[in-house]
Amino acid sequence: MRIAPLLAVTALLATAPQQAVAELPDPFIFADGTRVTDADDWARRREELKELFQRVEYGHLPPKPERAAIEWGEPDTESTPGATVKPFAMRFGQGDAKLVVNGRLTLPAEGAGRLPVVIQGGWFGDVPARFKRPPGPSPYAARGYASVEINYNDAARDDSKRCREGGVYQLFGDDIDCGGLMAWAWSVHRAIDALANHDRINASRVVVSGHSRWGKAALVAGAFDERIAITVPQHSGCGGAAPYRYVFGKAERLENITGKYGYWLRPGFRAYVGREEELPIDQHELLALVAPRWQMSTEGTEDTWINPEGSQLSYLAAKPVYELLGAGDRLSIRFRPVGHVPSVEDLLDFADHAFEGKSLPEAFGRLEYERHAEATPWAAVAPTK
Ligand code: GCU
Repeated sequence: MRIAPLLAVTALLATAPQQAVAELPDPFIFADGTRVTDADDWARRREELKELFQRVEYGHLPPKPERAAIEWGEPDTESTPGATVKPFAMRFGQGDAKLVVNGRLTLPAEGAGRLPVVIQGGWFGDVPARFKRPPGPSPYAARGYASVEINYNDAARDDSKRCREGGVYQLFGDDIDCGGLMAWAWSVHRAIDALANHDRINASRVVVSGHSRWGKAALVAGAFDERIAITVPQHSGCGGAAPYRYVFGKAERLENITGKYGYWLRPGFRAYVGREEELPIDQHELLALVAPRWQMSTEGTEDTWINPEGSQLSYLAAKPVYELLGAGDRLSIRFRPVGHVPSVEDLLDFADHAFEGKSLPEAFGRLEYERHAEATPWAAVAPTK
C-alpha cells in the first residue's frame, strides 16, 4: 500500500478525505495474488468477491426457502389515479417455520402486455412522513412501468433491538449470519421469483432501486442476482455506493454505521472501525459485481452525510471492470444539486435508455469532483477487453 507523501497531503488538505487514505483495493487481484486478465478470470474473481462481501460485511444471502407461494389481495383502483394497486403476500415455509412478506404491485389502469418493473422496498403502515409514498398518480405507471413495493420490515425489522425477532431470522433460525441489508435484498429476489411469470411483468426488464438505506439494499440485491437488469441505488452512501476508505467532509463512516445501524450488516463488521485499510474489499467492488449489467447511482452534492464525492470514486473505480466486460457505457452516475432527495425521473430516464435506447440527458455521467487518481493507481494498468 502506498502512502501519499506529506507534501502532497498538505497541498490537498482543502479536499482531503477525513478517513485515513489508502488505495482502494485492486479488484483485478485474486486473494492468492494472481491477476485477472480476461472476462473468464473476472467470472471467478466475481465469485470470490461475492464470498468476501458476505463473509466480511453483509453476512450470507439466505437461501431460497423450501416452500413459497403468493397470495393476492383485493385490487385497489381508487387510491392511485390511473393505476391499479394489487396487494400481495409472499408466504414462505422452511421446516416448521413460516414467514409472510407483504408487498404491492402497481400497474397502469389501462393496457395489456408485459411491462418493465421497478422493485423497491420500504416500510408499510404507520411510518414517518418522509418515508411515505406521496399521494397522487404513480410516476412509474405514468411512464409505462409496473412497480413493486416490498415491506422490508417483514424480511428484517428496521429496528436495532428487534431486527432479529422475526423476518428471515424466524424463517431460517439463528444459523444465518446476514444483517438487515442482505435480508432486504433476499426479499427482492423472492419477489422476482414470485412475479416472474405474472402476465403483466417482463421478467427480463427488472429494475431494482431504493433511497438511502434502501438504496444500499438495492445495490446488494443487484450485486447478488443476475436476473436484475438495472440497479439504481439512490443516495446510498456508507454501506452502499460510498467507499469506507474515502470519506469526505462530515460523511458517514464505518464507525457511524456500525454504531447505530450495526444490525444492517454482519455482526462483527464493527471490528474494522479504525482499520478500514485492512478491509479485503471496498464498495467499488460491490458496484463491480453488478457488471456488465446496467447500473447508475444518484447523488446529491448537498447530501454530505451520504458521501457523494466518495461515491464518484467508487464509480470511477468500478468502471475498469465494466470496460473489461465491454460494458463501459452501462455504468453511470447522476449528481443533482440537492440534499437527501431521490429522483424517480432520473431512474426512469436511465431505464428508458437501457431498455429503449432513448438518449440520456447530458448530466448523466458528468463528474462533480476531482478524480483522486491516487486512490486507484491500478486502474492505469487494468486489463482491457
Ligand atoms: C441514516 C444512516 C444512513 C442512511 C439514512 C437513511 O442517516 O446513517 O446510512 O442512509 O439513515 O436511510 O435515510
